[in-house]
Amino acid sequence: MQGQEPENEFHQDSLAILGAGGHGRVAADCAEALGWRTVILFDDAAGSGLSGAWPIEGGEADLRDRAAQFSGVLVAVGNNEARLNLHRRLAAASLPMTTLIHPNASVSRHAVVGIGAVVFAGACVNVGAQVGEAVIVNTAASVDHDCVLGDGVHVSPGAHLAGGVRVGDRSWIGIGAVVRQGISIGRDAMIGAGAVVVADVADGVTVVGNPARPLER
Ligand SMILES: CC(C)(COP(=O)(O)OP(=O)(O)OC[C@H]1O[C@@H](n2cnc3c(N)ncnc32)[C@H](O)[C@@H]1OP(=O)(O)O)[C@@H](O)C(=O)NCCC(=O)NCCS
Repeated sequence: MQGQEPENEFHQDSLAILGAGGHGRVAADCAEALGWRTVILFDDAAGSGLSGAWPIEGGEADLRDRAAQFSGVLVAVGNNEARLNLHRRLAAASLPMTTLIHPNASVSRHAVVGIGAVVFAGACVNVGAQVGEAVIVNTAASVDHDCVLGDGVHVSPGAHLAGGVRVGDRSWIGIGAVVRQGISIGRDAMIGAGAVVVADVADGVTVVGNPARPLER
């Protein structure tokens, strides 16, 4: 007969996820598909309770207090700057930051995926690509050969980066956007949903449309 496990026992396969919103739940689902046995969410804004199938057991401070219980920690906050800052803060505190690559994603063995990044179902990271820390390569997105993504980048669902595209830290490629080969996108840029990017994009600029042009406010 199996005895009950002590409450604070360390599990090799217990993952803590900071962020219990939609992105956090997709990350939790990805973790389950990868075989993580226990997934617990933490979120300062959500208090405690349930987020879909997963328990929320407090906020960042609670996660830190219980860090020794977890063999993996992931920050799954949608905002790029917040995600990257939280990731760096927890990594600096020596928490075991983790990368998730869904079993139905395709990542070349000749690509590099940074700590704290996620590559969700149906996504592809091709040969020679470099993906930074705390990056999201979202559902069915593609990052083709020799692309270089800085830290905290988000490539939204169904977006496609052709070969050799460079994307600076914290930039967001919107859902279904397409970026032509060899293009450079600066830091903190925003590529609107469905945009077709055929020219370089400077730091902090938002572009939309086909061909993509800066969004006039
Ligand atoms: C580009 C974006 C950031 C602009 O958001 P915003 O600053 O709130 O802009 P608004 O919605 O107020 O729109 C401003 C103008 O830009 C136009 N616009 C907004 N997004 C556009 C897009 N993706 N393509 C073309 N035009 C767009 C609007 O029609 C509006 O035009 P108008 O002034 O002539 O009426 C946003 O629309 C977008 O595309 N976000 C991506 C969302 C996404 O990828 N989500 C995935 C989550 S995983």
